[in-house]
Amino acid sequence: MDTVALVTGGGSGIGEAIAHHLAGEGYRVAIVDVALESAERVAASLRGTGRLALAVQGDISRSSDVHAAVERVERELGPVRHLVNNAGVVVQRMAVDLTDEEWARVVGVDLTGAFYMSREVARRLLARGEQGAIVNISSVLARVARPLNSAYCASKAGVEGLTRALALEFAPKIRVNAVSPGHILTTLTRPMFTPPITAAFNARIPLGELGQPPWIASVVAFLLSEAARYITGQVVEVDGGYNINGNLPGLEFGPNR
Ligand SMILES: NC(=O)c1ccc[n+]([C@@H]2O[C@H](COP(=O)([O-])OP(=O)(O)OC[C@H]3O[C@@H](n4cnc5c(N)ncnc54)[C@H](O)[C@@H]3O)[C@@H](O)[C@H]2O)c1
Repeated sequence: MDTVALVTGGGSGIGEAIAHHLAGEGYRVAIVDVALESAERVAASLRGTGRLALAVQGDISRSSDVHAAVERVERELGPVRHLVNNAGVVVQRMAVDLTDEEWARVVGVDLTGAFYMSREVARRLLARGEQGAIVNISSVLARVARPLNSAYCASKAGVEGLTRALALEFAPKIRVNAVSPGHILTTLTRPMFTPPITAAFNARIPLGELGQPPWIASVVAFLLSEAARYITGQVVEVDGGYNINGNLPGLEFGPNR
């Protein structure tokens, strides 16, 4: 697949795994990340495997950064046909204590950033009359509420609504889908997963363990690919079955419990 895939937040965690997976499939990978050093590190490691890769610094919550980043990627790597809106931040605080700035930051990166990037890439693709695909990274918290996460839950629910709205507007040229990860070990979440908390999650996840970034990357790659040519506007839950578990603590049923 010798076309350009742009991955936001590709300098770390799930985005880094996506960048590696896509490069392995032959994409030219552009990483747009607010943290240039991390993005450069990942791009350099992709180039080390013989692929073309570019790191660009940009804050996706600013439309001027998004425009400049995509402009540079297209100049240096070629037209962007595939986009992964992965960059995300979280602020964990009770809603009554959340400041205007914290709310604006989470919504600005997690929801508005995905919109700015999708709009920028779609304008260019549609103007050229090309086909493309977008995958947004949502979260299990789009549908399941957890205390301290109001801005994040609202943003990710918004990402899923945005996925459907853009899928309809951009059809048939551009497919838009979302992947909703469950609980994945990355720099974002590692501080939270102390041994007792990990044990509690493992007991709650039907497949029995926390997820790893490559398990998200492979599904993203599928949704970007021709193999998914008849799928648009969908959210794929990649969470070890977390979202379908209605078992009650202490009353678990099932052959393996
Ligand atoms: N880790 C999990 O368990 C989990 C679960 C569900 C969803 N997610 C989602 O997956 C995505 C990746 O999460 P992760 O765990 O890999 O996080 P991470 O913190 O490891 O990586 C996030 C990356 O986004 C970049 N970034 C942050 N703000 C940015 C901005 N304004 N502009 C550009 N880049 C920016 C960071 O520099 C970093 O490289 C996020 O959207 C997150 O909400 C993660």
